[in-house]
Amino acid sequence: MKRDFTTILQLTDLHLFANSDALFNHVNTRDTYNQVLSHIQQHYENPDIIIITGDLAHDGNLETYQFIADSLKVFSSRVYYVLGNHDNRENANQAYPLPFLSTETHCLLDNWQIILVDSNHCPKENNYEGEISPAELERIEKLVVNYPHKWTVIAMHHNVPDHQDRGINIELRNHEQVMQHFERFNTIKLVISGHVHQDFTINQNGICYFSTPSTGYQSLSKSGQITTEAPGYRWLKLYHNGRFETDVRRINVWAS
Ligand SMILES: [Fe+2]
Repeated sequence: MKRDFTTILQLTDLHLFANSDALFNHVNTRDTYNQVLSHIQQHYENPDIIIITGDLAHDGNLETYQFIADSLKVFSSRVYYVLGNHDNRENANQAYPLPFLSTETHCLLDNWQIILVDSNHCPKENNYEGEISPAELERIEKLVVNYPHKWTVIAMHHNVPDHQDRGINIELRNHEQVMQHFERFNTIKLVISGHVHQDFTINQNGICYFSTPSTGYQSLSKSGQITTEAPGYRWLKLYHNGRFETDVRRINVWAS
């Protein structure tokens, strides 16, 4: 019987290095990334689609992007990605696309569409805030208007809502404008991001904003305290009738 849903695995903030011994904030991100991939393989089915929401290579090396592609061959999934503030666009563009790893920024499913958004417009030195360009906002609008019968998932690196109450202030610089823009379309159902290295859900004016733990270093918790939470990832099930399910899974919790 044909399934009535599509499964999506979100991986984010891998912060990998070509040197397998390198650490990021005292975490060997290569080890934790490998543990995440093993956890998924041991406990869950193959996802239909993998989306990586930025900060793939902390060192920006071509070799690191190639390592990531090789590592994902254990899945028979179509892979999409957006770049984060730590990525090197030139080297990512040299490494990808590959037959299973797309550089496309739009993915059409039966009743859904996924729009992959660049949130790195006008980066400023020593500033972790993101920004979505007017051209990118226009592209989103066109796709939503052109596919009025599809529900929309937006994926980007930077978290959209104001995040100061969670001890961090590194959201999207033009987040108010972007949220107002999204709220004009009732087919935009969810926005997934990374960047803040923690799990949060904000439901505002009919749109769910989800951020997902890093596969490596975890950032501050909602209380502003250092967290000892394990690396993780997000699982999404998009049903053909517009319903969705999602949960965050961590490598120290086994599936029952
Ligand atoms: Fe990051």
